[in-house]
Amino acid sequence: MIDGHLVVARHDLVRRVLADPETYRPDNALDAMTPIPVAALRILTGYGFRLPPTLANNGTPSHPGIRAAVAAALGPDRVAAQRPWLTGLVRRRVAALAARLRAGDPVDLYADLAADLPLLVLTRLVELPDERSAVVKDFSRAALELFWAPLDRDRQLDLAGTVGRFHTVLRDVAATAPGLAAELRRLAGPDHVVGALFFLLVAGQETTSQFLTLLLHRLAGEPEVLSGLAAGTVPVAAVVEEGLRLEPPIVTWRRVAAQDSTLDGVRVAARTPIVLWLAKAGRDPAVTGQPDRFVPGQLGSRRHLAFGAGAHRCIGAPLARMEAAVVVEEVAPLLRGVAVVRPPWCPDNLSFRMPDAFVVAQTGRRITTFRPVAAPADRAAGSNPAEANMPIVPPYSRPAPPVASTTG
Ligand code: HEM
Repeated sequence: MIDGHLVVARHDLVRRVLADPETYRPDNALDAMTPIPVAALRILTGYGFRLPPTLANNGTPSHPGIRAAVAAALGPDRVAAQRPWLTGLVRRRVAALAARLRAGDPVDLYADLAADLPLLVLTRLVELPDERSAVVKDFSRAALELFWAPLDRDRQLDLAGTVGRFHTVLRDVAATAPGLAAELRRLAGPDHVVGALFFLLVAGQETTSQFLTLLLHRLAGEPEVLSGLAAGTVPVAAVVEEGLRLEPPIVTWRRVAAQDSTLDGVRVAARTPIVLWLAKAGRDPAVTGQPDRFVPGQLGSRRHLAFGAGAHRCIGAPLARMEAAVVVEEVAPLLRGVAVVRPPWCPDNLSFRMPDAFVVAQTGRRITTFRPVAAPADRAAGSNPAEANMPIVPPYSRPAPPVASTTG
């Protein structure tokens, strides 16, 4: 028990909690980790910000209907239909990146490749008006920080402005857009439509760009896996699954006890908030024989809980898997000839790993044009005044900000 939260890390216990929404409710899933001060709440209210329970934090009877509507928009046929388009786009990008690498330039596989791909696909799937897409990235990162990061007051005020402004945009989209928004309008009132789209626009793209970046970084250090992919002896789908197990973008997720219970002999009182350590559960030795090694296809590899479990299990899992498969397939050959110049750095956050960059250069080339991407000074590890209040952050989500190095 830390900071009033019960931390659950064992795979079987995490699964048990996720699968029992009567005893462990999802109501606190989107609660702000750092309480939002009145001044920031005023900013949000000024923009008409309201977030009623719709998806991840919805334990009410309205959940199945809203979930079914969103799931229909993300069905297997619709996901499969996006694959050729996405493959073409990634192939063109990779060709351009390869040319830059050959010329001796470093490339950022986060900014230049992974950051916007999931949003582009989601925009097509849920028919979000194009002109709105540009602001979604700023907003979604701000929302992940406002609700899940340790923050000081000034930062909370800034973020409240960004999130509030986007809420206004979203209200307009919710009232007028076709596709999923129109379907949701048939089911629920305006606040619920906004709430569902709000969560979808964060969960449905930011997580996947994080995962793509973390997975590519991991693969850059797994030459045997890259050789297996090139030889066709290691299936792409198995690489994606092992990536989800070892490098999940969402490291923890929350539930709250609805009634008294016991977990492995530990008494859990009603109203106890629970942090489920999904990333740790993926490395439980009870599940895989080589928990810390990247071994695609090893027994238990697919039993990770990166997408949660039970009534709230991620609806976007097939989409995320498809996107990751396309990216691994197209980018793996390029990774065989690169050296890491700047690994991803993730700021402190209870649940989300938010890599800021991933820079590589062609092996053996001396780099002349790279300007180090520094982590913002006020948010660097160890310098956040609220950090002392965040003892439950998983330790491996927060390496020190890296420095650039040269090769050759
Ligand atoms: C690698 C990428 C992703 C990861 C790791 C991930 C992970 C998760 C997790 C851990 C949950 C909570 C599950 C629970 O409470 O049991 C969740 C819920 C959800 N995810 Fe994802 N997700 C990803 C991508 C996506 C995508 C691409 C979409 C949609 C386009 C999406 C939509 C949702 C929705 C709507 C929920 C709430 C479901 C509900 O409460 O009924 N996610 N996701």
